Amino acid sequence: MLGPPGSGKGTQGVRLAERFGVPHVASGDLLRRVVASGEDSELARAARAIDEGRFVSDEIASGVVFRELDTAAGFILDGYPRNLRQAELLDAYLHRRESPLFCALYLSVAEEGLLKRLAGRLTCENCGETFHITLEPPKVAGICDNCGATLIVREDDHPDRIWVRLQIYAERTRPVLDYYRNDNRLRRVDGVGTQDAVFERCLQELTDANVTFGGV
Ligand code: AP5
Ligand code: MG
Repeated sequence: MLGPPGSGKGTQGVRLAERFGVPHVASGDLLRRVVASGEDSELARAARAIDEGRFVSDEIASGVVFRELDTAAGFILDGYPRNLRQAELLDAYLHRRESPLFCALYLSVAEEGLLKRLAGRLTCENCGETFHITLEPPKVAGICDNCGATLIVREDDHPDRIWVRLQIYAERTRPVLDYYRNDNRLRRVDGVGTQDAVFERCLQELTDANVTFGGV
C-alpha cells in the first residue's frame, strides 16, 4: 500500500488483509510498538523520530519489517517501502525468497483531504483502530468501539508534524511510485469516497492485476 500520510493505507490494509487471510504488516505500527515496549533502547531511541514525523533509518525500518515478513507467505505491506533504497531492498529480499511483489496499490488523495483526515484522527492506544472526530466518530467519545480502551491523538498527528510528514513524503516517497510504475506494478486507486467504495476499488485493481498471495 503506497500513499501519502492519511490516504487510508492502514484503513484499507487491515480490510484487505482480513479478506485474503494474510497479515497486515505496517511499518509505522511495528515501529510504534518497539518504542512502546522499550525492549531495545537503541532501537527505541532511533524510532522516536516517528513522533517528530521524520523517517527512521532504512536499516531499522527494514529490520523490523523483514523480521515480520520472514514468517508470512503472503502479506499486505503498509508504510514500507518509503524511499527508493527501501524499494530496492524489498525487491532483493523477495527475490531471495522467490516470491516477487505483484502489485503496489497507490491510494491517491489530494492534500486538502489528507489534512482534514489526519488533523481529526483518533487512534486506539491498545488495538490501533482509527476513528475520526467528525468523519467517523466512536460511539462513546474517547473510547474505542473495538476494545474499550482510550483513544489518543498520535504524536505525529499534531499540525506542525503533519506538514513535516507531507513534505518528506513528497521528497522521498513519491519517487517510489515511478519505481513501480516503470515495470507496470503500480495500480492507482482513487482514495476519496466512503471506505467501502475505496475497498471495492482496491479489490478490483487486485483482481485486474491477477494478484495471488504467497503463490496461492
Ligand atoms: P505510518 O504509521 O506508516 O504513517 P503514515 O505513512 O504517515 O500514514 P498514516 O498511518 O498516518 O495514514 P494512513 O495512510 O494509514 O491512513 P489511515 O488509514 O490511518 O508511519 C509513521 C512514522 O513511522 C513515519 O512518519 C516514520 O517516522 C516511521 N516509519 C514508518 N515506516 C517507515 C519506513 N519504511 N522507513 C522509515 N520510517 C518509517 O486514515 C487516516 C484517517 O482518515 C483516519 O482517521 C481514518 O479513519 C480516515 N479515513 C480513512 N479512509 C477514509 C475515507 N475513505 N474517507 C474519509 N476518511 C477516511
Ligand atoms: Mg497508517
